[in-house]
Amino acid sequence: MTERTLVLVKPDGVERKLVGEVLARIERKGLHLVALELRTVDRETASQHYAEHDGKPFFESLLEFITSGPVLSAVVEGPRAIAAWRQLAGGTDPVEKATPGTIRGDFGLETQFNLVHGSDSPESAAREIKLWWPNL
Ligand code: PPS
Repeated sequence: MTERTLVLVKPDGVERKLVGEVLARIERKGLHLVALELRTVDRETASQHYAEHDGKPFFESLLEFITSGPVLSAVVEGPRAIAAWRQLAGGTDPVEKATPGTIRGDFGLETQFNLVHGSDSPESAAREIKLWWPNL
């Protein structure tokens, strides 16, 4: 079943020059890049993107962080792309949840600075792709 998912390399990943590493892993997995752009996201878009976390203690710092610098936004396609990308990314907490061999497990230390984002369901993917790539 071919799916599409939204991939973000967050400001910490861009700052640490891990964009090439992330894209290489996506391509080696066999996923296809459908759209790709470096952009600095505004607060309104960021709030919509993370709307389900509004009200949580980390919401404000998450918005501040994601708007703090350029983000790589990509749409990736392939069989079971949503789960495949989340497998490559690793769990949210780079130490407690992500295992070595995953992007977060290999390069991350803190939950906030966990380098990448991936849609967590077909519904989220559709919503997020529409938000970031309205003309796709
Ligand atoms: S939750 O509460 O279980 O739904 O949260 P989770 O799915 O683990 O994470 C949702 C996104 O919030 C980020 N996050 C945090 N940012 C800053 N500080 C803290 N403590 C924190 N906890 C979670 C986390 O990286 C997720 O971002 P995305 O971009 O979706 O991976």
